Amino acid sequence: MKIHVPVHRISAITICILTAALNMLGSVSGAETDSDTGLVIAPGFETVKLNCTVCHSAKIITQNRMDREGWLETIRWMQETQGLWQFNPETEKEILDYLSANYRPEGIYRRPPLNVQWE
Ligand code: HEC
Repeated sequence: MKIHVPVHRISAITICILTAALNMLGSVSGAETDSDTGLVIAPGFETVKLNCTVCHSAKIITQNRMDREGWLETIRWMQETQGLWQFNPETEKEILDYLSANYRPEGIYRRPPLNVQWE
């Protein structure tokens, strides 16, 4: 028995699959994460992974959103009370740059609102 699939059907399916594939690609390249830690791979990632996953999981970072000041306060708090070591200024800047860029209050996963004007 020969199954007849109309051509327009095939192209609709093809478009569906292509769209899904493109969406997947888009989300992966939009925020690539480290499979070990879940941290966003971006400048400073290695430094943060090295220094910030020793005492607790990276989840505590990825589940938090703070501005630069908030991250600095958290680091100071850990240094004063939790035995976190001191960083040299470049390392600290790299860590703060990374955290405030990738784990700031708005997050990077959500694109900004489209702001469509309907009239
Ligand atoms: C020397 C151990 C140590 C290291 C290294 C460390 N932390 Fe922590 N951190 C802690 C402890 C202990 C807590 C409290 C955990 C808890 O409450 O379960 C904590 C809590 C946190 C919290 C939650 C704070 C809150 O207000 O609840 C965040 C966010 C955090 N750490 C981020 C980081 C970042 C970013 C780094 C790297 C710069 C880092 N930690 C490195 C020990 C450490």
